[in-house]
Amino acid sequence: MRKLAGKNVFVTGVTGFLGQAVFERLLLDFPETRITLLVRPQLGSSGRQRVESLMGRPTFNALRDKVGTEGIAVALEERVDVVDGDFSADGLEIPGGLDVVIHCAAAVAFDPPIDEGFLTNLVGAVRLYEAALANNPAPHLLHVSTAYVAGVRKGVIPEATLDHRVDWRAESDLAIRARADVEAASRKPEILDSFLRKARAEHGRAGPQSVADDAEERRKTWVTKRLVQYGRARAQTLGWPDNYTFTKAMGERAVETLAASHGVPLSIVRPSIIESSYEHPFPGWIEGFKMAEPIILAYGRGTIPDFPGIPEGIIDIIPADFVVNAMLAAAANPPEPATPAYYHVSSGARNPLQYKGLYENVKEYYERDPLPQQGRGAVKVPEWTFPGNLRVERLLRTAERAVDVADKVVTHLPKSKRMRDLVARVDRDKGRVDFVRRYSDLYGAYTEAEVIYTDDRMLALSDSLTPEDRERFPFDSAIMDWRYYLQDVHSPAVTQSLRELSRRERQTPTVKIQEREHPVVALFDMEGTIITSNVVESYVWTRMADLPPDEWPRELVSVFGKIPSYLQIDRRDRGDFLRTFFRRYEGASVEGVQRLIDHHVGEFMLQKASSAAIRRIREHRHRLVDELAVGF
Ligand SMILES: NC(=O)c1ccc[n+]([C@@H]2O[C@H](COP(=O)([O-])OP(=O)(O)OC[C@H]3O[C@@H](n4cnc5c(N)ncnc54)[C@H](OP(=O)(O)O)[C@@H]3O)[C@@H](O)[C@H]2O)c1
Repeated sequence: MRKLAGKNVFVTGVTGFLGQAVFERLLLDFPETRITLLVRPQLGSSGRQRVESLMGRPTFNALRDKVGTEGIAVALEERVDVVDGDFSADGLEIPGGLDVVIHCAAAVAFDPPIDEGFLTNLVGAVRLYEAALANNPAPHLLHVSTAYVAGVRKGVIPEATLDHRVDWRAESDLAIRARADVEAASRKPEILDSFLRKARAEHGRAGPQSVADDAEERRKTWVTKRLVQYGRARAQTLGWPDNYTFTKAMGERAVETLAASHGVPLSIVRPSIIESSYEHPFPGWIEGFKMAEPIILAYGRGTIPDFPGIPEGIIDIIPADFVVNAMLAAAANPPEPATPAYYHVSSGARNPLQYKGLYENVKEYYERDPLPQQGRGAVKVPEWTFPGNLRVERLLRTAERAVDVADKVVTHLPKSKRMRDLVARVDRDKGRVDFVRRYSDLYGAYTEAEVIYTDDRMLALSDSLTPEDRERFPFDSAIMDWRYYLQDVHSPAVTQSLRELSRRERQTPTVKIQEREHPVVALFDMEGTIITSNVVESYVWTRMADLPPDEWPRELVSVFGKIPSYLQIDRRDRGDFLRTFFRRYEGASVEGVQRLIDHHVGEFMLQKASSAAIRRIREHRHRLVDELAVGF
């Protein structure tokens, strides 16, 4: 590892999960190494400002403990250069003097639009290395890939170049051209007419500009969805589960070709599923939610009755710090220029964790330390039976149909308190079914994989380290104790914020709204949108209740007598109509109207409210609580 001392190491993706951990390790353990970072400016922050703001994160706790905040500032000043740039765009410039280029950044969502996946994971990677090679004669290129570039094949996958004959240049060119094709298709009159029809139905009364805006928004959404479909379909017809693994596989090919043509050393590091750290910067360190966390959390809340997957199948998880350590060891030991080195950083070959083992450990953890259930004790986690994927799929389809029927029924029934409770229940069920569907579609290929990624080269690399380095930078998965990791490290890390939130809720039942620099407001149109009445009807209700009964006939005759002229103004300009009509409220007291709303009209409005709208408002409220929870 000491070979990195005195070198200049270039890193991309440091604002992300893995890159951030690589950066931390370089700052903490390699004081004689210079670090150059590529960061894209964002929301008015330069690359350097983004890097400075990273320093407050828990990732850098160990470094802060060692050198203090001032020490960090000095290290940033003296050892770190930041280049502002986006490698998916043209015109990237990378300075000279680099010894190693660690390319960590990528588009990691499973299903990006096909062109975006290629632009980042293939074209972007090539642009980045070309820019680096323009000013550096022979840097060691360390390309972070994924074990899943192997695609949907089963069996044993060696640490070697991928065996496929797909023409990456043709795939990349066609993928990037796909956007122009889809954009053109979205402008066909029959397609535009369909957007316009839907926009008119929803926003016709708000005026032609609102209709046009909505139609254009629908067109853009259609383009994105279509490009996602292009990516998924193309990946699957060639043997990859999704666009992410497909573009990463094509990216590997492009980078191999480039490194060979420049005669530079190339290491390709392929981690499997990266989860929280085993040890460093502290056990359980994780940034954001990765792959297994949403399922572990939902299971702990008792909301997933079963999930597809082969119980004996191997779920290949590797802690983040093992990946970082392996990358740094690979960076310190470049291969010969003509022979790229491939490393699987994975656990399936020598310390396999079965899907059932993952489930049993997580279940044991929750049985020992269950999640609290709001006001109703603790959650009892369900027993998964692993009935086979076909049966889970059949159950899922039946559940989807049942929820769909219930949804239609509750949407069209008259509104009442009982109905509102029913709607809430249907929503809950729908949320659960949607969750299992989304995640089983996304992760199907990962929970059913019957594949082993061999890691002999990775082990040889680990064995080549000095005993001190092996101890300080471990990455041999055989040393992992799954029970300890899953029950004492990973699951507590995943559930920590939820437990803290419910502890706080128990302590302080009132929600405190924090001052925000940019407040968030959710505004809703009422009449004709949330409630099935119109401004006239609402007025009649409110005004009648505020007037003595002997004045009702006069007021009603006056309102209805004016309806033809109101309609005429409404047809001409909605704003004019509202202004004219709302003048009728003149003389009504604010307190009176408030009292009426609280005691009479509120209940009437709730009964007239569309259940879909109430759901939407509830969703906003949930989101608001989530955001508040993050801000606390
Ligand atoms: N996470 C896993 O489980 C996993 C497993 C196997 C392999 N990997 C591989 O590990 C690497 C890191 O993954 P991750 O989970 O750390 O990803 P991540 O958290 O999503 O971070 C992605 C990083 O890439 C940067 N980036 C993306 N496009 C860019 C562009 N055009 N120009 C400049 N920067 C750009 C992002 O910067 P912004 O902040 O500006 O967006 C961010 O820093 C990837 O190569 C991925 O394929 C990950």
